[in-house]
Amino acid sequence: MKEKHGDIFTGLGGGRHVTVLLDPHSYERVAWEPRSRLDFHSYATFLMERIFDVQLPHYSPTEEKARMRPTLVHRDLQALTEAMFTNLRSVLLGDATEGASGWREVGLLDLCYGSLLRAGYLTLYGVEASPHTQESQAQDRAHSADVYHTFRHLDLMLPKLARGSLSVADKDRVCSVKAHLWKLLSPVQLATRAQRSSWLESYLRHLEELGASEEMQARALVLQLWATQGNMGPAAFWLLLFLLKNPEALAAVRGELERVLWRAEQPVSQMTTLPQKVLDNMPVLDSVLDETLRLTAAPFITREVVVDMAMPMADGREFSLRRGDRLLLFPFLSPQRDPDIYSDPETFKYDRFLNADGSEKRDFYKDGKRLKHPSVPWGAGHNQCLGRGYAVSSIKQ
Ligand code: HEM
Repeated sequence: MKEKHGDIFTGLGGGRHVTVLLDPHSYERVAWEPRSRLDFHSYATFLMERIFDVQLPHYSPTEEKARMRPTLVHRDLQALTEAMFTNLRSVLLGDATEGASGWREVGLLDLCYGSLLRAGYLTLYGVEASPHTQESQAQDRAHSADVYHTFRHLDLMLPKLARGSLSVADKDRVCSVKAHLWKLLSPVQLATRAQRSSWLESYLRHLEELGASEEMQARALVLQLWATQGNMGPAAFWLLLFLLKNPEALAAVRGELERVLWRAEQPVSQMTTLPQKVLDNMPVLDSVLDETLRLTAAPFITREVVVDMAMPMADGREFSLRRGDRLLLFPFLSPQRDPDIYSDPETFKYDRFLNADGSEKRDFYKDGKRLKHPSVPWGAGHNQCLGRGYAVSSIKQ
């Protein structure tokens, strides 16, 4: 499409006109357009209702976001990272010791998705008891496995659900899977959990203030499970897969880990968490993650056109957008796989985001101009991912 129509064109899909923008120099402008012109929330609200059956009275995404942000950064991020370390250990090591021979075989996707979602769920939604015991951790493993397996059934149906193309049998299946998840994540069930994150406390208060019924709260909590946990596992899967297929990259990451752990104040065996300082000091692993996301993260960044407007491009051209149509940015094609920006764009190069001196590389160019966003896996502008720090720390752990 890009070769035929250029870096901006309009198509008709599902009865809606969608203007696709593929010029990365123009993304920044769009990402910061006010909501009164390009709106993220009406499409998000539509998906919220269609997929998760969530309708919140007096819902304000801006207010929700303002409440969530402080619970995912700074001191709260450190607390989340520490809890994630404990829960990942429990899930990964506990499962292995519970197996009859000490070994269990699972596929790589299931291993990554399952471990991160289960540990992430325990971290955000709370654990069985605090301080934990061997028994309470075994319960955490069983309960989080139930949440994960049920969630995965729903997850696999999401594309059809979003398109509205479920068969009758699929619809029955989705109904029973959702009902089970709503029960598992109901406010009554969650009320007894220990070490609930400040993110959950704040979100539950927000739902109560909105006047959402207990049933609607449970639905919103399932939606949030997807929003917070749906991407980390797949990202970790791709990262591990690339490392396993690229021995040179694996050796470089191992070498870096040994160096930073050797410099750390405590021996690894005594660590109860990986200190943020260690996690933040891994340019090689950062580069591997950036390269992994460059090749695999493909968010559709969709905005509703609220008023007839002229959209200025970075090169001075201007295009008319019509009220009621949609604008779609698809960074997966450009910048992420653009041969003008990346040599061999389809190839995984673990050190692509490293300078010759080993520091993080930030300078990438298209048409002689430096790109503000050489890769956009976390979105940009007003709607940039709030959980980025937590996700990166979790995947690194
Ligand atoms: C590898 C993991 C993740 C990826 C790749 C990812 C990606 C994204 C992207 C692309 C967007 C923007 C969507 C748009 O503009 O259309 C977004 C938004 C968001 N993300 Fe993430 N995310 C990840 C993990 C997380 C986690 C762990 C959390 C929370 C704990 C989180 C919370 C959010 C929230 C609340 C928004 C909405 C922001 C808004 O409404 O403006 N994400 N994420």
